[in-house]
Amino acid sequence: MRGLRSVGILSTGSYTPERVLTNADLEKMVDTSDEWVVTRTGIRERRISAPEQASSDLALEAAKIALEKAQVRPGELDMIIVATVTPDMMFPSTACILQDKLGAAKAAAMDVSAACTGFLYGITTASQFIANGLYRYVLVVGVECLSKITDYTDRNTCVLFGDGAGAALLGPVEQGMGFLAFDLGADGSGGPLLSLPGGGSRLPASSETVEQRQHYISMAGSEVFKFAVKVMNSATEAVLEKAGISKEEIDLMVPHQANRRIIDAAVKRFGLSEEKVVINLDRYGNMSSASIPVALDEAIEAGRLKEGDNVVLVGFGGGLTWGAALCKWSTREAKE
Ligand code: UT7
Repeated sequence: MRGLRSVGILSTGSYTPERVLTNADLEKMVDTSDEWVVTRTGIRERRISAPEQASSDLALEAAKIALEKAQVRPGELDMIIVATVTPDMMFPSTACILQDKLGAAKAAAMDVSAACTGFLYGITTASQFIANGLYRYVLVVGVECLSKITDYTDRNTCVLFGDGAGAALLGPVEQGMGFLAFDLGADGSGGPLLSLPGGGSRLPASSETVEQRQHYISMAGSEVFKFAVKVMNSATEAVLEKAGISKEEIDLMVPHQANRRIIDAAVKRFGLSEEKVVINLDRYGNMSSASIPVALDEAIEAGRLKEGDNVVLVGFGGGLTWGAALCKWSTREAKE
C-alpha cells in the first residue's frame, strides 16, 4: 500500500460584504457604547450582507478567488466542504448550492456543522481524502451570514457578529510539508451555552418560536469566554506536541476572531510577539467559521507567510467544539 501523501493549502480567497456596521451605528440600536465594545471585545466594525445575499453567494466569491490564484478550474475539484451555521436553507447543503454555482460538476459536496470551529473540522476532514489518495483537490469554505440570525435588540450578542467567507484549496504538497498535526474536540454537554434553538426538529419553526426569538443566536458569553481561553491553549499545545514543535518555533498563529481578550490570553501563554499573531476582528467582528480563513487569506496577501513557516490555526465554538491545525507552510503542489 502506498504511504500517505502530505497535504497543504495551495491557495486561499476571501470575501466580505460591502456594508459596514460600526459601533457608533450599534449605539443607536441598543444600549451600548463604542468604549464598552472596544474594551470588552476589541471589535470596532463588522460587515453585513445585503438582504439578497445568502451564504452561498459569499462563498462563491471567496471560492473563485482561491481557484483563480491556484489556477485550478472548478471542474477539477474532487470535493467541496462548506463549514457554516448559516446555510442558505436547511437542505440542500450550501456545499451543493456552491457546487452548482461554481460548475464543479465532478465534486462531491457536503456541509460541516461545527460552528466557529467549522473551518478546522473542514480542513481536517478534507486532508484525509487527499492524504489517502482518494482525492487531489478539495475546496474548504468557511462562510457565515451571522447578521441573519442575530437579534439586533440583544446587546449581549449583536455587537459581536459579522458576515464573510474564506476559502482554501487543499491539495498534495511535497513530503514533510503542509499539515503536520490536527487536534479536534467536542463537549456536547456545553451545547446550550451557544445555540440557535428554534427551527429544527426539536422546536420546529412556528409563530411561537419567532415570538420567543428562538430563531436567533443565544449565548452565555462569560461561560463561553472561560471555555475559549482554556481550549485555545490545550488545542495549540496538542498540535505542537503531536508535531514535535516547540512554542518558540511558531512563526504565525491564526486564531478564531471572537474576542481580543481571548486571543491575548493565548498570545501570553505561548509568548508570541505581535507580528506572530493575526488579528482582524477590529474590522470584521466574529464571523464564526469564516474568521480563520479570512484572517489567513489576509495574512498571506500581506506577505506574512513564507515557505516553511510553522503556522498554527486554532479555534473554538458552539457544540461546544474546538480544534487546531499545525501547518509547515507550502503552497507548492506535489506533482506525482
Ligand atoms: O465564537 C464563539 C462564540 N462567542 C464567543 O467567543 C464569545 C465569548 N465571550 C465573550 O467574548 C464575552 O463574554 C462577551 C464580550 C460576550 C461579554 O464580555 P464579559 O466581559 O464576559 O461581560 P459580561 O457578560 O460579564 O457582562 C458584563 C456586563 C453586564 O452587565 P451587568 O450585568 O454586570 O450589569 C452586561 O449586561 O456588561 C453588560 N453588557 C453590555 N454593556 C454594554 C453586555 N453586553 C453589553 C454591550 N454594551 N454590548
